[in-house]
Amino acid sequence: MTGDFEIGARAKARCDLLGAPPYSEVEDQLTRRFLTPAHNAALERLTLWMTSAGMTVRRDAAGNLVGRYEGQAPDAPALMIGSHIDSVRNGGRYDGPLGIMLGIDVVEALRDASRRLPFAIEVIAFGDEEGSRFPASMSCSRAIAGTLDPDAVLDMRDADGVTLAQAFTAFGLDPQRITDARRKPSEVLAFLEAHIEQGPVLEAEGLALGVVTAIAAQKRLMVRITGMAGHAGTTPMALRKDPGPAAAECILALERLCQAGTDNLVGTVGRLTALPGAFNVIPGAVEFSMDIRAETSATRDAAVEAVTAEIHAIAARRGLSASVTLMQALSESPCDPGLTAMLEAAVGDLGLPPRRLPSGAGHDAMVMAALCPTAMLFIRCEGGISHNPAESVTEADCALAAQAMLHFIDKLERRERA
Ligand code: GLV
Ligand code: MN
Ligand code: MN
Repeated sequence: MTGDFEIGARAKARCDLLGAPPYSEVEDQLTRRFLTPAHNAALERLTLWMTSAGMTVRRDAAGNLVGRYEGQAPDAPALMIGSHIDSVRNGGRYDGPLGIMLGIDVVEALRDASRRLPFAIEVIAFGDEEGSRFPASMSCSRAIAGTLDPDAVLDMRDADGVTLAQAFTAFGLDPQRITDARRKPSEVLAFLEAHIEQGPVLEAEGLALGVVTAIAAQKRLMVRITGMAGHAGTTPMALRKDPGPAAAECILALERLCQAGTDNLVGTVGRLTALPGAFNVIPGAVEFSMDIRAETSATRDAAVEAVTAEIHAIAARRGLSASVTLMQALSESPCDPGLTAMLEAAVGDLGLPPRRLPSGAGHDAMVMAALCPTAMLFIRCEGGISHNPAESVTEADCALAAQAMLHFIDKLERRERA
């Protein structure tokens, strides 16, 4: 069916190829942030692969790349398959791109078999899932799903002070038109995302594949604690207004709160900056990010409220001021029960036990659920390691994933013909 490559196995090799410059901004690591030259280079390479798999390819107004394989009738609604092409800083090679490469392989297999379906297939490479350049994430899938408010994001700045609007312009896109990427529900039959698990469950159980039931709710917040900058050598400890130790207390408070929580409540401070940032200066302010997630928005929100109150109390006790700013909120997102059952049956067709599991990681699928029914396939990764260059998958598991996706398409075809 697939000629000279093993479907799925090549997907891994393609992710590996995109793991270095020019597809990475940084030598000797993979950092591919939204709207950078590395992002553009990856889209150019994906365009070649999508075209040779039989797709017509376009870039949309929000920086997504979309390859379309027509169905039997022109303008048929599409099964969208894909994931994100951006990475975290110094990330792994499979988080995101693997879902795109598997989609390309699946389309190529259909094309080689001369199969046209009652629906089109669109393979999509979302541009910004990680939010690794600007403070909010998933702007590209939100643009497609129609849930992006441009006024809320276009003024966001990256670490170099470049606004999202400026970055769009530099990428050759009009920031005033990003909502043109929005798709109509009538154009999209469903969204299927294949992704590495990014956790240890499948490996621990000796399973190659899992089927996602739901994606956890998350909130991103920025905290700023303000004191007074001063001389590190001359200011006695009792007379300082140092936001550093206050930030340390806040981080410990978040840890305590989440350790005592339910519904897989987790909290992370992934970015911490002392300003102005010098050995010999008591910082005038400390800023840190908080990422808080749980299986339900209610549990997440209760934790956000509790930690916010603690932050203000800690700051007040130390004579400092604090602000907590919500950067982004995403509700929990159940996958579609019908499609999930279909995907579970597709995994079963391969003789594999159908293992259902929730996702603590965020995915574009959680945003796409506002537009269409969604399903997600997880692929085992070594040690559950992700957001780390040590991320690893096997070719054999990738091949199984591609086969499961083809079985899923068979079942969707039968449903659409019925
Ligand atoms: C994306 O990887 C996320 O879960 O934040
Ligand atoms: Mn990620
Ligand atoms: Mn991802």
